[in-house]
Amino acid sequence: MSSDFLLPVGDRYQLRLLQLNDAPELFALTDANRSYLRQWLPWLDVVTRVEDTQDFVTKTLVQFAEHEGLVAAICESGKIVGTVGFNRIEQLNRIGYIGYWLAESARGKGIMTDSCRSLINYGFTTLKLDRVVIACATGNHRSRAIPLRLGFTHQGVVRDAEWLYKEFVAHDIYALNVEDWKKAAIYLPSNQS
Ligand SMILES: CC(C)(COP(=O)(O)OP(=O)(O)OC[C@H]1O[C@@H](n2cnc3c(N)ncnc32)[C@H](O)[C@@H]1OP(=O)(O)O)[C@@H](O)C(=O)NCCC(=O)NCCS
Repeated sequence: MSSDFLLPVGDRYQLRLLQLNDAPELFALTDANRSYLRQWLPWLDVVTRVEDTQDFVTKTLVQFAEHEGLVAAICESGKIVGTVGFNRIEQLNRIGYIGYWLAESARGKGIMTDSCRSLINYGFTTLKLDRVVIACATGNHRSRAIPLRLGFTHQGVVRDAEWLYKEFVAHDIYALNVEDWKKAAIYLPSNQS
């Protein structure tokens, strides 16, 4: 893996590896979107200070150095609008597990679908993954629409997969194998597919 990971998403957006000096901007974006993100992400209550975001970024950089993850900022004109990445890479089985979030103001434009498409392309080509997995809470329809748009196959439902503040939620699991990705030509940018 390159240490200066940078990936274009169409002509307007870029994915670049999160760095420690992103922590103040990323924390401010998290804080501004706290109640909206809290509906589906379990970590908002443990990210209350910029130091918490610094700790998170440090962990992602260690994972990246060990080839066990890759978390990127999604940037529009240099500003962070969300994150996407392989939260976990299982080297033994060559599987990448994708996670993502967008600022509320950045939703509804296809940014995350396009970002995932670019990341998946990178995962299957440069990282030589065999399989990419996305797990979404069953009620999270916007999130579930992303793997479906990208040709993933529904694998099943895991009951009580995640504790979300006051209750367990089930996860729908979606997966895409490298052979299906090649057949479906999912690597084409959205304006050419
Ligand atoms: C999940 C999340 C990233 C989805 O955001 P999103 O904006 O719906 O996803 P995209 O950026 O791919 O955009 C898709 C939307 O843009 C529209 N769109 C416009 N241009 C598009 C294009 N070129 N390609 C795809 N969709 C496009 C789609 O129709 C869709 O809108 P719709 O839901 O009204 O039909 C966002 O809701 C979020 O961050 N939620 C909180 C955190 C979270 O749930 N994370 C996931 C945990 S599993």
